[in-house]
Amino acid sequence: MPVTAVIGGQWGDEGKGKIIDYLSCDADIVARFQGGSNAGHTIQIKDKEIILHQIPSGILRKSITCILGNGMVIDPVNLVREIKDVETIGINTTGRLFLSLNAHIVTPIHKFLDAYWENKAGNRAIGTTKRGIGPAYTDKIKRCGIRVRDLKNRENLREKVQNQLDYLKLLDNISNEDIEGIQKELEPFFESCEQIKHLAADTFSIIHKHIENGSNILLEGAQGTLLDIDHGSYPFVTSSNTISGNICAGLGISPKDIDKIIGVFKAYNTRVGAGPFPTEQLNEYGEYLQQKGYEFGATTRRKRRCGWFDAELARFAVKVNGVDYIALTKLDVLDELDEIKICTHYENGRYPEVYLEDAKPVYISLPGWKKSIKQIKEFDKLPAETINYIKKIEELLSVPIKIVSTGKEREEIIFID
Ligand code: GDP
Ligand code: IMO
Ligand code: MG
Repeated sequence: MPVTAVIGGQWGDEGKGKIIDYLSCDADIVARFQGGSNAGHTIQIKDKEIILHQIPSGILRKSITCILGNGMVIDPVNLVREIKDVETIGINTTGRLFLSLNAHIVTPIHKFLDAYWENKAGNRAIGTTKRGIGPAYTDKIKRCGIRVRDLKNRENLREKVQNQLDYLKLLDNISNEDIEGIQKELEPFFESCEQIKHLAADTFSIIHKHIENGSNILLEGAQGTLLDIDHGSYPFVTSSNTISGNICAGLGISPKDIDKIIGVFKAYNTRVGAGPFPTEQLNEYGEYLQQKGYEFGATTRRKRRCGWFDAELARFAVKVNGVDYIALTKLDVLDELDEIKICTHYENGRYPEVYLEDAKPVYISLPGWKKSIKQIKEFDKLPAETINYIKKIEELLSVPIKIVSTGKEREEIIFID
C-alpha cells in the first residue's frame, strides 16, 4: 500500500468511508488533510451504522493511528461528541488520535456566520452544512484564525475568540439576542477545547517517521472533486481544495511521497445543496435512485439530488487527481432498472470550459441486469450487463475499475485483480 490516497470523484458522498474502511485492514495510519465536520463518512458493520465527521475512518480498526492534518478546520465541540460516540461502541481512541498543531479551530462564531451568510445570500445560497467551514477557512486566509496550538494557552484563546466576537458585532443586523446566543455556546466550546488539547501533536514528524519506515498510510479525502474551491462548480463548492493536489499542503508531505491515488465514484451521480447538476433527473429515475440508494446527507439528513453517471465530469476528476484506479460504489442501487443511462460528454463543450449551468449532456443507454448483485463475491460471476456497465465506464474514463462495491456492508465488495 505504502502511501495511498482515497479521493471523492464527484460531489461528495461517493462512499469514501466504506472504501477507507475496506482498505484500512492493513493500514498503520489514516490521515485527513482538509475539510472538517461538514464531512459525513458512513461505515456499516453488521447492524451498526457509524458516521464519522472529523475522525478518520481508520479509527474502527484497533491498531491504526489517526491524524487530523493541518489543512483541516476542527470543531472541538463536535470532536468531543464524536470521540464519545465511537467510545460508546467500544472503540478506544486513547493514544491513537492526533491533531496537527497547525490545524485551524472552528468556533461558535464561525457557525453563526455560516448561517448568517447563507441567509443574506437569498437565492444565491450555497446550501452549506452550516458547520462553520467557510468562515473558519476565511479567518485562516485572513491570517486571523485560531489554531490547535492556541488551545494550550487558555487566556490567549479567550482573547482571540473575544476578537472574533467584537468583529462580528460590527456586521449589519446582528442583534443582542444573536450575541447572547453565541455567548451561551462559548463556555461549552472552551470546555471542549480543554478536553481535546492533549491530542495536539507534531503530526508532521509522526507522518514522516512512518513514511521513512515504509508504513502503510491511507490519506482520506473529504467532499469531492466537484466541490473543490478551485476546480469545482464554483461558487457552489466547499471552502477547501478537495483534490489530491492538496494532500501535500494539508499534511506537510511531498508529492513524491504519494504512491497511489484511488478515485471513488458512485455508479450514478448525487449532490446535496445548491448548484448546477447537468445529469440530474427530476423524474421517476431520480426518485428511484434517491429511494433505492437511500440518498440522504450523512451530516444534514437532507435529501440528495440524483442523476445519471456523468463521464464528462468523471474524466476531469480522473485527470485533475491523477487517479490510478477507481472504486465504483453503489452499483447494487441500479439492480432494478430496465435501462441505465450514462452521459458520455456534453454537446456544447468540455468541462471546465463549458459553464455547468449551460451543459447539454449526451447520453447512451445500457440495458439493466434486473437482479440483485449484493451476494456476488467474484467479478466474473456478475451478470453480463453489469460487467458491460463497468467496462463502459472504464472505457469512457480510460482508467481501470479495481474495486466494485455492491452494498453498504463491509463484505459487499469485489476486488478485481
Ligand atoms: P462518503 O461521504 O463518501 O463517505 O459517503 P457517505 O457515507 O456520505 O454516503 C454513502 C452512503 O452509501 C452511506 O450511507 C453508505 O453506507 C452507503 N454505501 C456505501 N457503499 C455502498 C454500496 O455499494 N451500496 C449501497 N447500497 N450503499 C452503499
Ligand atoms: P463528504 O466528505 C456532500 C456540500 C454542502 C454544500 C457545499 C458547501 O461526506 O463527501 P460547506 O458546509 O462545506 O461550506 O458546504 O458543499 N458538502 C458536501 N456534500 N458530501 C460532503 O462531504 C460535503 N461537504 C460539504 O452540501 O453544497
Ligand atoms: Mg458523506
